[in-house]
Amino acid sequence: MTSRPVIWFPRKLSEATLARARSTYDVIVNEADTPGTAEAIIAMSAQVDAMVPCHSEHFSADVVAALDPRLKIVANHSVGVDHCDLPALKARGITVTNTPDVLSDATAEIAMLLMLGAARRAVEGDALVRDGKWSDWSPAFMVGKQVSGARLGIIGMGRVGRAFAEKARGFGMDIHYHNRTRLVEADEHGATYHPTLETLLPEVDFISLHCPATPETTDLINTTTLAKMRDGAVLVNTARGALVDEDALIAALSSGKISAAGLDCFKVEPGGNPQFAQFPQVMMLPHIGSATRATRDAMGFRALDNLDAFFAGKDPRDRLV
Ligand code: DGY
Repeated sequence: MTSRPVIWFPRKLSEATLARARSTYDVIVNEADTPGTAEAIIAMSAQVDAMVPCHSEHFSADVVAALDPRLKIVANHSVGVDHCDLPALKARGITVTNTPDVLSDATAEIAMLLMLGAARRAVEGDALVRDGKWSDWSPAFMVGKQVSGARLGIIGMGRVGRAFAEKARGFGMDIHYHNRTRLVEADEHGATYHPTLETLLPEVDFISLHCPATPETTDLINTTTLAKMRDGAVLVNTARGALVDEDALIAALSSGKISAAGLDCFKVEPGGNPQFAQFPQVMMLPHIGSATRATRDAMGFRALDNLDAFFAGKDPRDRLV
């Protein structure tokens, strides 16, 4: 009898995921569910054939250089892979996969929640009622910015961007987008393509980020790009904190250039940026775009599908390197 591959799960994935994993593999789970440190990743690499990390486990060039040759595949439980130094992993001959598609709707839901919450002053309104401080009402009270029929600019028209566009069309929004490449017409559903941010930013009332964090997109939202936005624009980020120069955004919120923001991602995670707490018009969430039961199972199963293909000698569907 051939021995079963050994898989390390640095975080506690969904019960259904772990049950399925146990039916095929020898499984080691970090029951403490703490982020896998560099030391833990390096130590475990000598004991396992595969790892199923989340974005909380960092495979930097230094970590990758120290990995034991036993480790053959990093099957990420995430679509974003900015926590992995892909060239370094490739150079070590380690296969890397991710989990696209399955979290698009859940993440688009959170983008919609943040866009509506920021525009309609949900944080401020909730606090008033919750704290027993709601003592008045008038037509001038808690007036926000209307989403229905407004212009939305989507930066990054991949799977999540397209899922968000579909939901926004339900609000009658006029969709504009910037992407490295233009979508085929059938996928645009009437959206207007902008080959550059320069033409997109002044045209829209709401901006939602859906591109990956790469060296090219780091601080994509900065003093210069914020200045190009319409006065009173609303910014939503459910992609990665690296995309936004947070000091520049704080300055734009202070001046009113940006009227509100919805943020699920921050430069420092966990934790976020306490400076944003001074703005009641900023709605914040702790990186929970994909956090639904159905999506957690789907992400886990997709990672296992990739492992199953790999150990069956096939090319995993979501192979990145
Ligand atoms: C992703 O899959 O990239 C989400 O941000 C959760 O990690």
